[in-house]
Amino acid sequence: MNKLTYALLGSAATVLLFSGNAMADSCIDCHTKISPGQVQDWKVSKHSQEDVSCVDCHGDKHSTAEDYKNARLPDEHVCAECHQEQFDSFADGKHNFGWTTLNAIPATHLAPDELIEGGRGCGGCHNMGIKSDAQKKEQREKGYRYQNNSCDECHTRHSFSKKEAQNPRACQQCHMGYDHPQWEMWSSSKHGERWFAKQNGDLPKDAAAPTCQVCHLPDGTHHNETAWGFLGVRLPLPDDKQAAADRVTILKALGVLDPETGKPTPILDAVKAVRMAKLDQESWQKERDKMLKICSQCHSAKYAKEQLDAGDSVMMKADRLMAEAINTVAALYKDGIIKKPAGYPANFPFLLTFMHTNGENWDKVKGLSYIDQVLVQMYMKHRMRAYQGFFHVNPDYAYWYGWNEMTKDLGEIQELARSMRATHGQ
Ligand code: HEC
Ligand code: HEC
Ligand code: HEC
Ligand code: HEC
Ligand code: HEC
Ligand code: HEC
Ligand code: HEC
Ligand code: HEC
Repeated sequence: MNKLTYALLGSAATVLLFSGNAMADSCIDCHTKISPGQVQDWKVSKHSQEDVSCVDCHGDKHSTAEDYKNARLPDEHVCAECHQEQFDSFADGKHNFGWTTLNAIPATHLAPDELIEGGRGCGGCHNMGIKSDAQKKEQREKGYRYQNNSCDECHTRHSFSKKEAQNPRACQQCHMGYDHPQWEMWSSSKHGERWFAKQNGDLPKDAAAPTCQVCHLPDGTHHNETAWGFLGVRLPLPDDKQAAADRVTILKALGVLDPETGKPTPILDAVKAVRMAKLDQESWQKERDKMLKICSQCHSAKYAKEQLDAGDSVMMKADRLMAEAINTVAALYKDGIIKKPAGYPANFPFLLTFMHTNGENWDKVKGLSYIDQVLVQMYMKHRMRAYQGFFHVNPDYAYWYGWNEMTKDLGEIQELARSMRATHGQ
C-alpha cells in the first residue's frame, strides 16, 4: 500500500494535517528523540531505501506520546501485502506450527507465564506461526502485547535484512541446547568448520560449505520440513519385527497409541494436525528425496544415500535401547510401584511431560518419580543427540553425548527399577 492510500484511509484530521510524507517524517522526528537506535536500524534497511516507512507497517492512528497504543503492531499479513511469495511458503512450512504445538502440550501452562508467554522459555522460540485474531487478543489481554510477527525472528527488526537471515546464526537462538542442539552440532562439524573458515578468509569465498539454509530453506523457500521431524517416529512400521515392536512401545509412551489396546488416541489427531510425524511412506520419502538432492550438489548421490540410510539405521538401534527402558518403567506402573501422576493420559510412562511447575500447581506433577525423569531425559536429550548428531555429521554428539548417554540411562533405569522393587518387597 502506498502512502497516498494510507493518507486517504487515515482519519480526516490526519489528512488535513499531514501529507503522507509529512506523517512519515513526524514519526521519524519524534522517534529519533525517544528511540534513536530504532530509527537508525530502519535507516540501514532496504525498506528505508525503497521508501517503506514507519506508517506503512504501523499505520497512522498514533501520532502523539499519549496515544501510542493505537499504533498497529504488524503481523505477518502486513508483510504479505508486499511479500506474498515468502508469506505463502512460510505459511505452508513447519515454523507456522510453532505456537500451536507449544499449546498442544498440556504441561506447557504449568510453568511460569513470564517464561512461556513472556518469551524466555517455550514461547521465546515457539512464537513462530501466524496467530488467529482470537489468539492475539488473548495474548494482549494477558499483557503480552508484542511477539506477533514471525518474520522478524530471522529478519530482525528494523533492519529486516536478507543477509542476516542467510547467516546460520539467525537460527541459533532457537535451534540449540537441551533437545535440539543443531547449532552446536553443525558449527562443530566439518560443514560448519568450513563455513567459519570461509568467514575468516581462510577458504576462498566460493568454497563449498553448507549452512542450515542451504539444506533446510533451499532456493529462497520459507517452507521448512524434514523427513523424520523432531519426535523421530513415523508410519508405516519397519518390516523388522523387533524394530516394529520398539516403535510401537515409543508411540505408546508418546501417548499416541493406547498402552492397553494399541489403538490410536486423541493425541494422534493433534500430532497429525501439526504434522509432528509422517504417517505414510510417501510424505516421508518426499522430504528425504529433497534432502538427497541437496547433498548431491557436493557429494556423490550414492555416498549421500548411504549416509542418510545409516542415520535411519542408528535411529532403529537407539529405539531398541529406548523401548527396553520404557518397558522397564512401564512394568513398575503395572505392578503399582509407581502411581499414575495426575496429568498423565494413561497408567504408563509419558515422554511428553516436561516436568513443569510454576510452584503453585506442584500437585499436578508431584507424582512424577525420579525414574520417569531419567526416562524423559533419555528420550528428549540423549536419543535426540544420537540421531540428530548423526544427520548433522557430528561424531561427538552422535556417539558420546547421544548413544553413550543412552546406554548409561538404560543402566540407571534398570538399577533404579531393581531397588524400587526391593523397597516394595517384590
Ligand atoms: C510526539 C512523539 C511521537 C510521534 C510523532 C510518534 N510517536 Fe510513536 N511513540 C511515541 C512514544 C512516546 C511511544 C511510547 C514509547 C515508549 O513506551 O517508550 C511511542 C510508541 C510507538 C510504537 C510502539 C507501540 C506499542 O504498542 O508499544 C510504535 C509502533 C510507534 N510509536 C510508531 C510510530 C509511528 C508509525 C508514528 C508516525 C505515524 C509515530 N510513532 C509517531 C512518540 C511518538
Ligand atoms: C517493515 C515493517 C516495519 C517498518 C517499516 C517499521 N516497523 Fe516498527 N515494528 C515492526 C514489527 C514487525 C514490530 C514487532 C511487532 C510485534 O512484536 O508484534 C515492530 C515494533 C515496533 C515498536 C515496538 C517494539 C519495540 O521494539 O520497541 C516500535 C516502537 C516501532 N516498531 C517503531 C517503528 C518506527 C519509529 C519506525 C520507522 C522508523 C518503524 N517502527 C518502522 C515492523 C515495522
Ligand atoms: C509497503 C510494502 C512493504 C511492506 C509492508 C513490507 N515490505 Fe519488505 N520490502 C519491501 C520492498 C519494496 C523491499 C525491497 C525490494 C525487495 O527486496 O523485494 C523489501 C525488502 C524486504 C526484505 C529484503 C531485504 C534485503 O536485505 O534484501 C526483507 C527481508 C523484507 N522486506 C521483510 C519484510 C517484513 C518481515 C515485513 C513485515 C514486517 C515487510 N518486509 C513489509 C516492501 C515492503
Ligand atoms: C530454545 C528454543 C526452544 C524452547 C525454549 C522450547 N522449544 Fe520446543 N522446539 C524448538 C525447536 C527449534 C523445535 C524443533 C526441533 C527439531 O525439529 O529438532 C522444537 C520442537 C518442539 C516440539 C515438536 C514439534 C514438532 O513438530 O515435532 C514440541 C511439541 C515442543 N517443541 C514443545 C516445547 C515446549 C512445551 C517447550 C517449553 C517447555 C519448548 N518446546 C521449549 C525450540 C524451543
Ligand atoms: C526461518 C528464518 C526465516 C523466517 C522466519 C522468515 N524468513 Fe524471509 N528469508 C529467510 C532466508 C534464509 C532468506 C534468504 C533466501 C535466499 O537465500 O534467497 C529470506 C529472504 C526473504 C526475502 C528476500 C527475498 C529476495 O530474494 O530478495 C523477503 C522479502 C523475506 N524473506 C520475507 C519474509 C517474510 C515476509 C517472512 C514472514 C512471513 C519471512 N521472510 C520469514 C529466512 C526467514
Ligand atoms: C524463533 C525461533 C526459531 C528460529 C529463529 C528458527 N527456528 Fe526453526 N523451528 C523453530 C520451532 C519452534 C520449530 C518447531 C515448529 C513446530 O512446532 O512444528 C522449528 C522447526 C524447524 C524445522 C523443522 C523440523 C521438522 O519438524 O521437520 C527446520 C528444518 C528448521 N526449524 C530450520 C530452521 C532454520 C534453517 C532456521 C534459520 C534460518 C530456523 N529454523 C530458525 C524455531 C525457530
Ligand atoms: C548438510 C545439510 C544440513 C545442514 C548444513 C544442516 N542440516 Fe539440519 N538436517 C539435515 C538432515 C539430513 C536432517 C535429517 C533429515 C531427515 O529426517 O531425513 C536434518 C534435520 C534437522 C532438523 C530436524 C531434527 C533433527 O535434528 O534431525 C532440524 C530442526 C534441523 N535439521 C535444523 C538445522 C539447523 C538449525 C542447522 C544449522 C545450525 C542445520 N539443520 C544444518 C541436514 C542438514
Ligand atoms: C554445499 C556443499 C555440501 C553439501 C550440500 C553437503 N555437504 Fe557434506 N561435506 C561438504 C564438504 C566440503 C565436506 C568436507 C570435505 C569432506 O570431508 O569431504 C563435507 C563433509 C561431509 C561428511 C564428512 C566426511 C568426512 O570424511 O568426515 C559427511 C558424512 C557429509 N559431508 C555428508 C553430507 C550429507 C549427508 C549431506 C546432505 C544432507 C551433505 N553432506 C551436504 C560439502 C557439502
